[in-house]
Amino acid sequence: MAVGSPLPHDAAKLHVTGQARYIDDIPMPANTLHLAFGLSSVAHGDITAMELDAVRAAEGVVAVMTAEDFDGEVPDCSPSLGDEPLLTSDVVHYVGQPVFLVIATSHLAARRAVRLAKIDYDERPAILDYDTALREKSHFEDGPRIYSCGDAAKAIAGAPHRIEGTIEMGGQEHFYLEGQAAAALPQEGGDMIVYSSTQHPSEVQHKVAHALHVPMHAVRVETRRMGGGFGGKESQGNWLAIACAVAARATGRPCKMRYDRDDDMIVTGKRHDFRISYTCGFDGEGRILGIDFLQLTRAGWSMDLTLPVADRAMLHADNAYFLPNARIESHRLRLNTQSNTAYRGFGGPQGVLGIERVIDHIAHTLGRDPAEVRRLNYYDEMVVPVAGEGVPEDHIVSVDYDPLSRGGEEHDTGHARLSGGRHSPRGKLTPYGQEVEDFILHGMTERLLSQADWSARRRQVAEWNARNPILKKGLGISPVKFGISFTLTHLNQAGALVHVYSDGSLHLNHGGTEMGQGLFQKVAQVAASEFGIGIERVKITATDTGKVPNTSATAASSGSDLNGMAVKNACDRIRTRLEVFLLDWFGDSDVTWQDGRVRFGNHDMSFEEVVKLAYMNRVSLSATGYYKTPKIEWDRIAGRGRPFFYFAHGIAISEVVLDTLTGENRILRADILHDVGNSLNPAIDIGQIEGGYVQGAGWLTTEELVWDAKGRLRTHAPSTYKIPAASDAPDVFNITLWDGQNREETIYRSKAVGEPPFMLGISAFLALSDAAAACGPHYPALNAPATPEECLAAIARARGEAA
Ligand code: MTE
Ligand code: MOS
Repeated sequence: MAVGSPLPHDAAKLHVTGQARYIDDIPMPANTLHLAFGLSSVAHGDITAMELDAVRAAEGVVAVMTAEDFDGEVPDCSPSLGDEPLLTSDVVHYVGQPVFLVIATSHLAARRAVRLAKIDYDERPAILDYDTALREKSHFEDGPRIYSCGDAAKAIAGAPHRIEGTIEMGGQEHFYLEGQAAAALPQEGGDMIVYSSTQHPSEVQHKVAHALHVPMHAVRVETRRMGGGFGGKESQGNWLAIACAVAARATGRPCKMRYDRDDDMIVTGKRHDFRISYTCGFDGEGRILGIDFLQLTRAGWSMDLTLPVADRAMLHADNAYFLPNARIESHRLRLNTQSNTAYRGFGGPQGVLGIERVIDHIAHTLGRDPAEVRRLNYYDEMVVPVAGEGVPEDHIVSVDYDPLSRGGEEHDTGHARLSGGRHSPRGKLTPYGQEVEDFILHGMTERLLSQADWSARRRQVAEWNARNPILKKGLGISPVKFGISFTLTHLNQAGALVHVYSDGSLHLNHGGTEMGQGLFQKVAQVAASEFGIGIERVKITATDTGKVPNTSATAASSGSDLNGMAVKNACDRIRTRLEVFLLDWFGDSDVTWQDGRVRFGNHDMSFEEVVKLAYMNRVSLSATGYYKTPKIEWDRIAGRGRPFFYFAHGIAISEVVLDTLTGENRILRADILHDVGNSLNPAIDIGQIEGGYVQGAGWLTTEELVWDAKGRLRTHAPSTYKIPAASDAPDVFNITLWDGQNREETIYRSKAVGEPPFMLGISAFLALSDAAAACGPHYPALNAPATPEECLAAIARARGEAA
């Protein structure tokens, strides 16, 4: 069966041979025009004069557009609040905001002309940091949002131990290899075809239709692939698509736009940076009794996706740990910087890093093994149902660890009896009221600790550190429990369109987009498996709003969960029609579809023969499919409900070495055990885990965004912004998939994998903290990114020296 086999990415060969077609590779008509934005050079101010004559006169320039050209109806690019005018002629809100649009005969001509503009500003004070934003009460939603359970203040006051602290964590540039790009081709009657490097073609369609004042049916958006998205193409592509569409409308010619790398980094939003402060009360062994989090985040100048990002940070403030009394206060601050946006994990990593820091701090304070303190605080392990006691067979979750090794209580009949073991049950309820029914990290942790030889290596590292004054080693461990579903409930739906042609080949389309994560291949494997045919029969096609409408962004890691199910639904419908036909025709049922053969009664036909016969007898061989996620409901204002269909888990151990003279460091080894349920494609899943870990570690170590006092981003190119290189991946990199299936009925009982492993990179950060802690008696309170400078500061704090 195609599902479960480790097939390579469907476009792997095209990628490595340079044949894969991205927007900029699509052959365009000869009369195509090229666009570039003129950008604001101040962080906050009123435009007092705009001198664009030299721009208009520049070679190759066909037209220049400003906000004035839209008769008071400047198209909006925002995915949420309507606060992102395509061009602005009055107030500018950050350095890099688009002010005017040049339309020229070539990409270079457009870019050259942009520089000839003279714009005068009356500068206003800019808000560039947390403290100023708080002081000025510069919030979205007019103030903080608070989720809580129990009585945190009381529990902290009554606890035997108490810690306080703050961790700063920087943002992160997406650094997709293909920058933002779009093209628009005007059609007859005012219709528009748009090619967009976007994770969200339906939104581009909606925004372009709105900008052109036409119904959505007049706009068709196509996306074959992105050269990486990572969340940075959920909303940020709107600007280019809208610019191309309005310019194409104005000139009657095809228009294309791509950002140069520096512009891409200066214009578009990034991961939200956070400052998280905590007060925590705990017992003598390290059990958290009460916790108070203050999460500050820099939303930037417009709302974009900040609300759901900040919500998700709150929803992951518990990570894998039962918090009986918790209070989480979240401030979404409006500043004069880029508008931060979705980025792999969507706020989750920031929330998780907050609690992982707290656990690390507790373990340091008590001098206990950080793995032990983690296990002590874990949610209760999933109770494994026993077959034959009212539990359907397929609900039995296969686990290869001993479920009897934990718990002190006897559970209801119908469940395995848990007794003995070292973990006493703590609880299952999250601070937002969802019960964690599928927690498996006790077993996973047990296995990884032994597989990676945690205890022995802790001793070896301690011995090394005792002998070596300069190079210190450190070990870090961090689990992840990540909630799967969009927290905006209505987004959890998907559609598909499947055609079977009369030669037995299949045309596959669904609402998901391909950004390198392997979604198309996984979904093609589902389609092939439904018909029992080889994957080579399935043609993967570009995402197209004209084929599957009203889609959600490919995001929240739910691409294969949603689109896999929608495609299965479409295939099932065609198969059912064929089975009814075969029964009619031959009088036989009980059809099996396998190895390209269709068998029923004593018949054994090839798939093509069946398809051909059905066609000749006028049976429809095409179907749409649909899926919506069950069981979820969520009140984001109250912070109560079941936002997530299920949780995906993982755990990682990292070992680092830190040069205490220079702060330079390396990851020496990483061991990961990750839960993808029944894998749809283990090769792609392992690739996602590797990439996620490295990207997560990059966020917390080398990737540093620096703005100057005028709000200018100084790190806007690979020369100054350091993403991990291939050589930064750990030399020893062991990844194992946990072999249990999803307890929920997902596609083939698989689990989402796109974002969760990103958070495993936190173990590398904690390992650096551990190495710094080896330098002195104090808690190093490492901030992220742990650049060499920050590592030296942390070492100084560990030694009790003023930094
Ligand atoms: N992997 C690659 N190679 N490129 C990407 O852009 N994006 C990540 C993740 N993995 C990304 C990736 C993000 S942010 C998400 S939400 C998921 O893939 C989206 O795809 P999925 O839902 O199909 O997993
Ligand atoms: Mo991913 S941040 O949900 O696009």
